[in-house]
Amino acid sequence: MGAYMDNRAVGIFDSGVGGLTAVRALRALLPEEDILYFADTAHVPYGKRSAAELRELSAAAAGLLRSRGVKAILVACGTASSEGMDAVREAGLPCCGVVRAAAREAARISRNGRIGVLSTEATAASGAFARELAAAAPGAEAVIHGTGLLVPLIEAGRCDAGDPDVRAAVAAAAAPFSGSGIDTLILGCTHFPLLSQAFARELGEGVALVDSGAAGARAFAALLASEGLLSEGGGSLRCLVSGDAAAFAASLGRLLPEAAPSPVEKA
Ligand code: DGL
Repeated sequence: MGAYMDNRAVGIFDSGVGGLTAVRALRALLPEEDILYFADTAHVPYGKRSAAELRELSAAAAGLLRSRGVKAILVACGTASSEGMDAVREAGLPCCGVVRAAAREAARISRNGRIGVLSTEATAASGAFARELAAAAPGAEAVIHGTGLLVPLIEAGRCDAGDPDVRAAVAAAAAPFSGSGIDTLILGCTHFPLLSQAFARELGEGVALVDSGAAGARAFAALLASEGLLSEGGGSLRCLVSGDAAAFAASLGRLLPEAAPSPVEKA
């Protein structure tokens, strides 16, 4: 890698634990990157916020990460990716978001051109997935629904496919896709892949699931490589949290045990 190496950390943010789906995938792809993760848990859920609030929160998150010296930013939140990418770009660092990455992966995977998207309500209202899918898969039919049912459960640590409340919430969230003929469903909120077992059980084998966090991580890895920003010899994870640091540390231990104990600091 030589001259193209940059050992500064990458910055990744989400409203809470959802972006850990991107962290998990990025650590597998690029194990030598140091990661600074910001969980804006003082403002979760993002999915109920207005476009103006989301732009402000995205700008603040990007500014915080930049002030800590990161070299590039992954917006590991579908909702912030939908409304906040321009605000993040203003931080002046290379960046990408999960919405475009997930839309492109779904376009490659779908065989019948009927692609579902389950996201937060704010993401569905923004039209971002409709635009990205129209660009990535012209002629495809997009079936897009938002739900506010799942993020509170996941933030409370309820991800087990055997938990009856989780199964009921996933069934309700997936119900609008029944009979739609989709062969691919984008889990367009990065929290949702933490329930992928429950979704797979609910939807059966005929529907391929796209993990928006992992898709974002793959796009981000490609961006780092193309910008000459890959690291050598790192691999740490540090977390900043705007809300309760101890609660986040407990979630991290549960959701990413291979990365624990990583320092969790109040932002
Ligand atoms: N994980 C986020 C997303 O991808 C935000 C969920 C929320 O805070 O509502 O949309």
